[in-house]
Amino acid sequence: MSRGAGEVNSAAQIAAAREGGKVLAGILRAVHARSQPGTNELAIDAWVAKEIVRCGAEISYKEVDFPGAVCISVNDELIHGAPKDYVYREGDKVSYDLTITYHGMHIDAAFSMIIGQEEPSGAKGRLLKITENALRAGIAEVKAGSHTGDIGSAVEKVLKAGKLGIIRDYIGHGIGTKMHQAPDIPNYGRRGTGEELQVGELICIEPMASLGKEKTEVNQEDGWTVSLKDGSIGAHFEHTVLVLPDGYEVLTEGAF
Ligand code: MF3
Ligand code: CO
Ligand code: CO
Repeated sequence: MSRGAGEVNSAAQIAAAREGGKVLAGILRAVHARSQPGTNELAIDAWVAKEIVRCGAEISYKEVDFPGAVCISVNDELIHGAPKDYVYREGDKVSYDLTITYHGMHIDAAFSMIIGQEEPSGAKGRLLKITENALRAGIAEVKAGSHTGDIGSAVEKVLKAGKLGIIRDYIGHGIGTKMHQAPDIPNYGRRGTGEELQVGELICIEPMASLGKEKTEVNQEDGWTVSLKDGSIGAHFEHTVLVLPDGYEVLTEGAF
């Protein structure tokens, strides 16, 4: 079942979301710089929790009782990684996904990186580059009157051409006064289908892909961490995007 059409935000809500996007981008850039061989996940999570509050924002994940301020997903972990006592090693893939609430508005962004490698090469480098390209291709479709299927189709095309596993168990979403709201933004679809985008809507486009198959499983111990069933490596990139009459504004630009 689809979530239906999204909500149009007021000028004040958009102004708050724009400011929140800058705060979130700054936090994620700092997280990238702090993520080195020898860094502990728990240290990153603790720093993020403090930084969110220092910036005048709130920890959105408290709303859903997620056990951390930021999702940290390493290697075969794909998304929703609950921060744990783990020390990064050179070559680890780490995905960060962070939602903050700023003056009542939720903002959401995610990126993947390889620890100790600024310009990752090989299969993992390819995975990251293609998944980020898929996000860009999806964003390029955004304007009033476009369909959510136009975004999904564009994302899917890039991931397919890159021969990556396209995750279907989780999708992008509208965002605003709630962390997850209408419309659904799948990473696959057909042009001209789905909901029509409206000026003033905020949407999260978030391709998730793997070097192997697409099947996922939730960790039964922590109840949150989603891993790839075949143990392959996953990547995740996400931006919060404002729908404009003739295009878009990426509110979390500069986060990665
Ligand atoms: N930021 C995530 C998203 O992109 C949601 C995180 S799930 C939570 O939709 F449980 F951690 F909140
Ligand atoms: Co997110
Ligand atoms: Co999201």
